[in-house]
Amino acid sequence: MEWRIIRLTEVGSTNDYAREIAEDVPEGTVVIARRQRAGRGRKGRNWVSPEGGLWMTAILKPRSSPEHIPKLVFVGALAVVDTLARYGIPAEIKWPNDVLVDGKKIAGILSECKLNSFALLGIGLNVNNRVPEELRDLAVSMAELIGRELKLEGVLDALLRSLSYWYSLFKSGQHGKILQSVRTRSSVLGKDVVILEDGEVVLRGRAVGIDDSGALLVDTGESVERVIYGDVSLRFP
Ligand code: ATP
Ligand code: BTN
Repeated sequence: MEWRIIRLTEVGSTNDYAREIAEDVPEGTVVIARRQRAGRGRKGRNWVSPEGGLWMTAILKPRSSPEHIPKLVFVGALAVVDTLARYGIPAEIKWPNDVLVDGKKIAGILSECKLNSFALLGIGLNVNNRVPEELRDLAVSMAELIGRELKLEGVLDALLRSLSYWYSLFKSGQHGKILQSVRTRSSVLGKDVVILEDGEVVLRGRAVGIDDSGALLVDTGESVERVIYGDVSLRFP
C-alpha cells in the first residue's frame, strides 16, 4: 500500500477529520495529529491524546462485501501487536478493539465506515505520552515499558508496514488467516468474562472462541452464545 500522510498539529479527532475528506482522497491517505482535543473511543468515550502519542486514521476503500467490514478492526489490532513485537513488547488483543500489555491498555482501534464508500481505521497508540494519573492502573505507554523515549516516526513507519501486510490479506479475502492470528494473540480466550451492554451485565461465562465472522463465543454453562461487538463491553470478573 502506498500511504499518503496528512500531518496536523492539532485536531478534534483524526477520525472526524478523515471522514470529512474520505470521499475526495485516494485509499491509503492517513491523517495524523500531534494531539487531539477530542479523541474518541467506542460509544463516544474519551480517548486521552496528548502530544507524544501516535494518533492516526487510515482511510481505506476495501470494496469488500459489508459482512467483512467489522473485521477491519482486527487488521488494526494485529498491526499494532506486530509493531509492538518489533520493539520487544509482547502484547495481546482484548477482543474486539483494544491492545493490552500485561493487562494494561496500550492502544485502541476505532473503525467506522460509510458502506460502499470508505472505512476509517483509527489507531491510538501510547508511545511517548504519559498516561494520565487516573488511568495509571489501566493504561501504559511504550516509553514507560522500554524505559526511554522512542522516535515517533520510526513507530509510525513500522505500524504502516504492518498495516500494509494485514490489510493486503483482508483485501485478498484471507479473512480466515486474520481471524486465526487474532485467536492466537487474544487475551480473552479460555478466560471467564462478563459482557455488558449499556452498563448492564447481559452475559457471564467463559470465552471459548472467536468464530469466522469475528464474534466472540461465550459458554455460559447452558449454551454457547455468539457475542457481536456492536455495543458490548467485555470485562474480566
Ligand atoms: P470496551 O471494553 O467497551 O472497549 P473500554 O473501557 O476499553 O471498554 P473504549 O471505548 O474501548 O472503552 O476506550 C475508551 C476508554 O479507554 C476510556 O474510557 C478510558 O478508560 C481509556 N483510555 C482513554 N485514553 C486512553 C489512552 N490514551 N490510553 C489507554 N486508555 C485510554
Ligand atoms: C477505543 O479503545 O475505544 C478506541 C480508541 C481509538 C483512539 C484513536 S486515536 C486516533 C483516532 N481518532 C480518534 O478520535 N480515535 C482514534
